[in-house]
Amino acid sequence: MFSVSGMNMNSAGYEVFEVLSGQSFRCAEGQSVLRAMEAQGKRCIPVGCRGGGCGLCRVRVLSGAYRSGRMSRGHVPAKAAAEGLALACQVFPQTDLTIEYFRHVGGNKPDNKNYEEVTS
Ligand code: FES
Repeated sequence: MFSVSGMNMNSAGYEVFEVLSGQSFRCAEGQSVLRAMEAQGKRCIPVGCRGGGCGLCRVRVLSGAYRSGRMSRGHVPAKAAAEGLALACQVFPQTDLTIEYFRHVGGNKPDNKNYEEVTS
């Protein structure tokens, strides 16, 4: 379990707040942040493979604790993971979380319907 700061347990799931968009949504126990976001019609994080491989959903966890599933080390090196970088499709909250979509820099815009919303 990673813990960035704070421990706010909630048996009915957890609140996830994405700071760039100002959007928040509930995440059930055992549900990934990305799945919860999609289920509630939010679009603050780009959606790709949903399996920890493409890196599109990369976020930085600013506060809260979570368990992470398998993530591509090419997109999230171990040192960065220890500092809160994670793939939202592999982040399973254990407390309320505050996250920040990790913007892509450079010319490679992801081909994703969510991209414009989070960068505009
Ligand atoms: S959607 Fe591909 S790594 Fe999360």
